[in-house]
Amino acid sequence: MIIVYSIEDLKKELSLIKESIGFVPTMGYLHNGHISLIEKSVKENKKTVCSIFVNPTQFGENEDLEKYPKDIENDINMLKKANCDIVFIPKTSDIYKENKVFVDILGFSDCLCGKKRPGHFKGVLTIVCKLFNIVRPDRAYFGEKDYQQYIIIKKMVKDLNFDIDIRIGDIIREFDGLAMSSRNSYLNEEERKKAVFLYDLLCYAKKNAYMGQKRIELENKIEKYIIEKIDCNIITKDYANIRDGIDLELKEFISENSRLFLAFFVGKIRLIDNGRLL
Ligand code: PAJ
Repeated sequence: MIIVYSIEDLKKELSLIKESIGFVPTMGYLHNGHISLIEKSVKENKKTVCSIFVNPTQFGENEDLEKYPKDIENDINMLKKANCDIVFIPKTSDIYKENKVFVDILGFSDCLCGKKRPGHFKGVLTIVCKLFNIVRPDRAYFGEKDYQQYIIIKKMVKDLNFDIDIRIGDIIREFDGLAMSSRNSYLNEEERKKAVFLYDLLCYAKKNAYMGQKRIELENKIEKYIIEKIDCNIITKDYANIRDGIDLELKEFISENSRLFLAFFVGKIRLIDNGRLL
């Protein structure tokens, strides 16, 4: 596996590749969720490139940019084991030198995490656009875990005419159902136990959903479940909304595209999850 730290060195390596390239952008502190995307890319492409870059422009002022977890050595070992070909670990100064141009999206990002984290998706789209132009992959891989991010990136690729196939990978979960996330490492023992609440809520919603049901009816049930089951000392709701998985709009009735989107603070740590209802 080749490790490169500058755009220039990456371009040299990429110029030697004539076959298909799969790309997995990450912010590091890798877990099996990230690795599942690498494995998918390895299967579907001749070469796989992974980037590790904690992108400052997608973090809000009060968010955890400075203390975002890092373990480059372990990341590199995991990527080697997964047969990744190239790891790109750029410096912020190399990526954002005198940067004046940003990429943003109208609509799609004014709900869910876009509403709760203003500017977040502008930062995501800008870095993903830059990385796409640097790596020029044939396929790029994103996790269902960040479903809104996946939808927004697909829209960018379509609207800005990128010739890249955007692929989605399933949510990889811990033994109890908690979606794997680099941020889970911040949770203390008690918070970690309680964090499974998000998964329990998803399962409850799935069990109570049916085709043609009024969205409001299911949302009311979900609210009741939250009020009854939540441990208010540890968990607070950021949002729990049902939206369409294709256009992220609110629909009157539950259909095969309906998804429940969740964001909760467990202690001070904000966790997200989502899933199809039918
Ligand atoms: P990061 O949070 O490191 O995630 C990198 C990729 O791994 C994303 O596509 C994310 O959806 C996927 N992922 C995370 N947890 C997962 C899980 N439990 N199962 C499956 N896939 C999972 O998302 C980002 O970084 C950044 O916003 C990025 C796209 C790299 C832009 O900076």
